[in-house]
Amino acid sequence: MSNEELVRRAQSVLFQNYRTQPIALMRGEGSWVYDADGKRYLDFIGGIATISVGHANPRVREALMEQAKLLWHASNLYVTEPQIRLAEKLTAQTRTLRRAFFCNSGTEANEAMIKLARHFHVVNGHPERIEILCFHNSFHGRTLGSLAATGQHKYQQGFGPLPEGFRFLDFGEAQQLASAISDKTCAVLLEPVQGEAGVMVPPRGYLARVRELCTKHGALMLLDEVQTGMGRTGAFFAHQHERIEPDAMTLAKGIAGGAPLGALLARDDVAKVFTPGTHASTFGGNPLATAAACAVMDLLAEGLIERVQRAGERLSGRLAAIGGRSAGERGMGLLRALVLAEDLAPKVVAKARELGLLVNAVGDRVVRLAPPLTVSDEEIDRAADLLTEALAKA
Ligand SMILES: Cc1ncc(COP(=O)(O)O)c(C=O)c1O
Repeated sequence: MSNEELVRRAQSVLFQNYRTQPIALMRGEGSWVYDADGKRYLDFIGGIATISVGHANPRVREALMEQAKLLWHASNLYVTEPQIRLAEKLTAQTRTLRRAFFCNSGTEANEAMIKLARHFHVVNGHPERIEILCFHNSFHGRTLGSLAATGQHKYQQGFGPLPEGFRFLDFGEAQQLASAISDKTCAVLLEPVQGEAGVMVPPRGYLARVRELCTKHGALMLLDEVQTGMGRTGAFFAHQHERIEPDAMTLAKGIAGGAPLGALLARDDVAKVFTPGTHASTFGGNPLATAAACAVMDLLAEGLIERVQRAGERLSGRLAAIGGRSAGERGMGLLRALVLAEDLAPKVVAKARELGLLVNAVGDRVVRLAPPLTVSDEEIDRAADLLTEALAKA
């Protein structure tokens, strides 16, 4: 069946809530995907930063297939081995986050983290500490709690009333946070790099300052590492660049290389307030997804993180040199944005697709790139060439 036919069928039967590109992807391998007409694309958005170790990675495929022979699902009525193994691997990468809770997506992980923070203060005798400080232009997901914490009016509009107790500050402004935080604050919730805002990197030292202020006031520091975690920025978790640790953090996207999985990690004394019955997920920690994630963790630990640092520098250099109608680039590791001088991003994305490169527009002036962490130097150079051509032709 052709792209055209599949797109037409999709349009007639699926909710029309996505700005879906008019191609149907059928197969992937490494950094490449193939559409229904057999056309090949260099995939520099990787399922929105989910295809962390490349399409059809043999190690992840093997883990999935081995687990599929054993047990697909059992729920949390019982212990399942891949979930424990994954929790051990994840917590081993942090100094203080000793416990993991698994769910199925980024928004669910954030929902759990928001509930955990509120409940922490209730259990510790401070039910009045409900205010969560969040940031303009942030993105935490689409369920009502995560949406209430999302600092973008366009996503919230028309879905009220949203849960109360979320207050928004300017991202990267430590002084503003110092004035807003108090001994009544429940938590500060932020992304180490704001991905959906257009890959906004805060000033160096900002996360460390947030950590200091949270500690001083007894507020929990909650990091949403859904987009930045799992090696994407050249460290296992982006906050590690500043050598700090949050009190809790969420992960999803690249964690299982494309299988749906979300995670919440927290300090022991914070995690323990979730007693039996307080929070749950039927599919959370699903054996297939967690087995895939264990394989991803192993690959990251076998030198892939260091490779991301080098690949990120190469991609950054190539994007910075694009010139023309671009106005520079920014990002960390392999989460990068080409900033445009004109409102051209959707056109550049469409032109790049025609030329055989998949990227994504964040607003009108930012083209986001989040290739598989396994991307080669040659693929980076090719993507930069195609993007240069797309920009010239858009
Ligand atoms: C930082 C961040 N948090 C949360 C989410 C929501 O994740 P999901 O779409 O898996 O629910 C996203 C998705 O883009 C994200 O970038």
